[in-house]
Amino acid sequence: MTGSRTLVLIKPDALKRRLSGEIISRFEHKGLKIIAMKMVKLNKDQAEKHYAVHKGKPFFSDLVSYIISSPIIAMVLEGRECIQVVRNLLGATDGSKAAPGTIRGDYSNGIQYTLVHASDSEESYQHEVSIYFNNQEILDYQIEGENLI
Ligand code: CMP
Repeated sequence: MTGSRTLVLIKPDALKRRLSGEIISRFEHKGLKIIAMKMVKLNKDQAEKHYAVHKGKPFFSDLVSYIISSPIIAMVLEGRECIQVVRNLLGATDGSKAAPGTIRGDYSNGIQYTLVHASDSEESYQHEVSIYFNNQEILDYQIEGENLI
């Protein structure tokens, strides 16, 4: 394994707006490595498990309804300081405050429809990844020269 890992979801609003390719490109251009990827439609239990940390907040039920409203793309990315690097690429949760050049800074102006989710810590990653992938689906592979990126 080269670096750390994070769990990324390309959410229903991004699919609806046909932004998946653009978003994946940003991660690839940064030099992060896709080591797992699938399209999945969550059920309510999975969504509540994923967002358990937000249970009790006023937006919790809307958040669950939204994430199960259409298929999403789940990915595991790997790279140096991956968790922080991906969060930097996403920008602030509130699109109106996200810096230009970040994904949300360029494509979102709200706080509910944030286009992408990414783990905010190693602990969140461990919790989240098990909802989407088993160990066989996460590929530990090397491509010659990849460390030059
Ligand atoms: P995400 O990164 O998936 O993690 C939690 C999600 O909750 C967030 O993106 C938003 O979609 C949503 N969210 C966060 N804050 C608010 C808020 N104040 N009102 C509505 N939705 C929110």
